[in-house]
Formats: sequence, C-alpha cells, structure tokens
Amino acid sequence: MPGKLGWAKAALSATSLIFTWYIVSSVVVWYKLRHIPGPFLASFTYIWGFWASYTGRSNQIMGDAQKKYGRVMRVAPDGILISDPETLLRINSARSNYPRGQWYAHARFDPRGDSVITMTDTPSHNKRKAKLAPAFSGKNVPILENKLDKWLTALVQVIRDRIAKGEETMEIGLLIHYFQVDLISEVSMGQPWGNLKANKDHFGYLEMNKAVIPSLQAGLYIPFVGKIFISSLFLKLFAPRTTDTKGLGLFLWVLEDAVKRRFSGTTEKSREEQDILLKLTQDIWIEHGHPPRECQLDLAILVPAGAETTVMMIRGTLLLLMSTPAVYWKLKQEIKNAISDGRISSPVTNEEAKSLEYTQAVVREGFRFMMPINYGFPKRVPGSGDTICGLPIPGGINVFVNYQSLMRSEEVFGKDADIFRPERFLGGGPHVAYMVKVLDFAFGGGHFTCLGKTLAIIEMNKVFIELFRNFNFQTANPEKPWRREVYTTWLVHDFWARVTEDESMG
Ligand code: HEM
Repeated sequence: MPGKLGWAKAALSATSLIFTWYIVSSVVVWYKLRHIPGPFLASFTYIWGFWASYTGRSNQIMGDAQKKYGRVMRVAPDGILISDPETLLRINSARSNYPRGQWYAHARFDPRGDSVITMTDTPSHNKRKAKLAPAFSGKNVPILENKLDKWLTALVQVIRDRIAKGEETMEIGLLIHYFQVDLISEVSMGQPWGNLKANKDHFGYLEMNKAVIPSLQAGLYIPFVGKIFISSLFLKLFAPRTTDTKGLGLFLWVLEDAVKRRFSGTTEKSREEQDILLKLTQDIWIEHGHPPRECQLDLAILVPAGAETTVMMIRGTLLLLMSTPAVYWKLKQEIKNAISDGRISSPVTNEEAKSLEYTQAVVREGFRFMMPINYGFPKRVPGSGDTICGLPIPGGINVFVNYQSLMRSEEVFGKDADIFRPERFLGGGPHVAYMVKVLDFAFGGGHFTCLGKTLAIIEMNKVFIELFRNFNFQTANPEKPWRREVYTTWLVHDFWARVTEDESMG
C-alpha cells in the first residue's frame, strides 16, 4: 500500500496529466481556426457562445462582436458565426453540399423520434421534407389563407369585445401570441388550442417557453449538453410524455389521438371542412407512405416553429409603428385610401395586400428590424473545407448564421440600417430587389427553406391591414413598452397597449 506521500504523488501526477491533456487539446482546437478572429474564450471553449445567449441579450452581444471582429468570427472551438450575404447564398443554394450541423439533432424533445427539423442526414431529411412540402404550397395555400382569415377575424373580435367592456388597456403581446398559437394549432392538427377566446394558456405552453427557452437555446451551443438533451436517460426523465395530464405531453397525446383517428378514418369532419391535417394525412402524407408516428412528430414541431417566429415579427412591428408616428399615419392613410377606393376587401386578400406599396415596405422593414430569429441553424463545412470571405475554413466546422447582424448590415441596407425606415424598400430597382433577397435569407434557402414560409408571408402581409383598419394603438407604458429577452428566438413580456376603435376608416 502506498503511504501518504505516495498518494499525494499519485494525485499530483494525475492532476498534471489532466492539466497537460487540457492544455494540449485546447491548443489543438484553437489551432484549427487560429486565423479567425473572435473572443479569446470562444477559441477553446463553448462558454462564450453559451453566455452570449443565456444573458437574453444575444442580439446585442453577438451584434457588437460581429461588428468588432468582422463578417466571419469565431464563436466556438469548432464554430464560426457569419453575417455575409454571399456566403449564405452559397450555403443555402439548391446545389449546396453543406449538411446540417449536430445542433439540429440536439433540438429533439420527443423521445419517440426525429421530426423533420431535427434530422441531420441530408438525403433522409430531403425525402421527409418532400412529403410535407405540398401541404404548404400550391392548392393548399387557399386553405391556409382561409384559416388565417378566420383567426384574424377572431383576433379583431376579441379586441373589440375588450374595448366594449371598457378594457382598452390590454396586454396586446399576449393576445397576439394566443392568436398565433390558435392559428398554427388549427393549421397543424385541425383543432385550435382555444387560447384566444378563453384568454388562457392551454397546455401551459407559454409558461413552459419562459421556463425552457433560455437554458435550452443557450445549451444547444454546447455539443455535450446537446448530447445530454437527447440521451435516452434525459428524455426518459424530462421529456414530455403522452401519458402526462398537462403541458406539452398532453398536447402530444391530443395529437397522437387526432392522427390515429384520421388514419383509422373515424374523423367527424366533412370533406368540405378539410383542414390541413386531413389534407396531409389522407390526401398527401398517406399517398406518400408517411406513417402515423412521423405525422405525429412532424405536426408536434409546427406549433413552436410556426408560433415563436411570425408572432415576434408582428409584435415587434406593432411596437415600431406605435413609436414612429410618421410611419404609423402613412400606413393608416394608405389603408384608408384603399378602403375608400374599393381596392381591398374585408378581410383583405393576400393579392390585394401585396398591391399596397407602403404597407409592403412596412412589413419588410418591420421583419428586417425585428428579425424573429437572432442566430443559429448551423451547417457543417463539407469535406476538405471551404473558403469563406477569403478565409480557409476546415471541413466539419459549424457555420452559424447571425441573422440580426445580417439584417442590420450597412452595406446591404444603408448607413441608417439601425433605424426603422420603411421608405428604404420603396421604388423598386435592383438595390431594393437585392435587399428583399437578403431579407429572404431569414427563411433559410434551397433544401433548408422554412416549410411555413408561404403562410408566414401571407400573414405578415395581412395582419397590419386588419388591425389598423379597425383600431388605433398606443403604448401603455411609453418608458418601458415591453420587456424582451433574445436567445435564438425571443421572449416578450408585459407588452401592454391602449387600443381604441378607429371609426374613421369607413
Ligand atoms: C416569420 C416567420 C418565420 C421565420 C422567420 C422562419 C424561419 C425559419 C428558419 C430560419 C428555418 C431553418 C432554416 C435552416 O435550416 O436553415 C425554418 C425552418 C422551419 N420552419 Fe420556419 N420560419 C417562420 C415561420 C414558420 C411557420 C409559420 C411555420 C409552420 C407553420 C414554420 C415551420 C418550419 C419548419 C417545419 C421548418 C423546418 C424545415 C426543414 O426541416 O427543413 N416556420 N424556419
């Protein structure tokens, strides 16, 4: 048996071995991307990326860093963050050979399997997506628009009822979130959650978001934490289950049940009442051999994917409008003129909305300025490497996108890119076309394109017309109109407004 001194020596040797291993491995990871500028901590740990996100100020921290280090900066031992339009165009092109990074796989929350969003093998992902895409395009678009109209009408009615009850000061941010969740749940599973009318957060979804988003989205930055998230033990202990009596688990059960009923043909809905699920499963998904389990997994991610994105743009643009009177009244005037000239119906159609030039400019500028997604969605540099902005990048490196910096780029949007000014999108011409193209990167591109893009664009086109033709909005707390936390997506709290009927619109 070694004596006290022997144990001490052994402990010392083990410590120096670990220390040496740490130093050597840090130098090795640092070396690969030593030519890429970035914060010191980011060159050999994941701490910087985690911290930048976890603070809830990721837009500011990553935006400032990207300004300091340039369009390509290091954010992790094996990760770079880019805000370069030309690189994105290449990565997102139809012929891109960049696969998705492991970050996607680590976002899985359902122990039963992958959804289309979490698949990283390109051929399998493409195959799965090809079955789903028709539900969001072509002849299904009018069905989506119909659902949207239904929920826009419901939102207007709920606001009107509040005003009639003398409750002009309302938490408009919450109402819009309820509206969005109802819209997406109906679009995805044929049945709304019923949040808007009941004024209730069914399934505790919004509360769960508040609790989970900060650590989940920041944790995804650290690969071994991501691996823990999707380990069978973690999923077994913490993932929502269809046997749960509340929360997301209950929602997954509702979904499972709805899909089972659709597959067994026991749906009570008539053919005329076709909703997207009926269309998907019976007309399209079944046709393509999409099994029930995959239907459940793919439908389950539509609510977070569809609700946590468009809603941010709507709330953000509303705040910008309330704080920019010149734009607010110009938008109002365009809508008023269109109504009095009989150029728009009620509710406005997407085609009519697209013909209102200033409204379109407001929608684009609001989207640019209040980008719902701040950063993320990394693709992996293929094979032996690539050259990005003139810098050699080895194969296997994760290329994260800094959407916020891209959308505030002075080269693309002009010197006043940090100002909300819809006029920049007026007048057409090649530069406006270029700005619109860069804005479109917010939805990914090529085989990475967002599945809900068409629905999101139609919604953005219509929502302000429907709200502004009926009401006037004023921030209830001008000194602190809301509280916003920005991770990969955002959380908004306490967004209160005073809303009054606008009788002048006719
Ligand atoms: C303004 C609103 C929206 C924005 C900015 C947005 C943005 C994005 C982005 C950036 C991606 C990932 C692209 C990539 O992998 O590079 C994505 C994927 C996706 N989005 Fe959206 N999205 C929006 C609305 C929606 C809506 C309304 C839905 C559903 C109804 C939806 C469903 C999806 C799905 C299913 C995917 C995964 C697609 C795939 O696996 O390739 N999104 N979205």
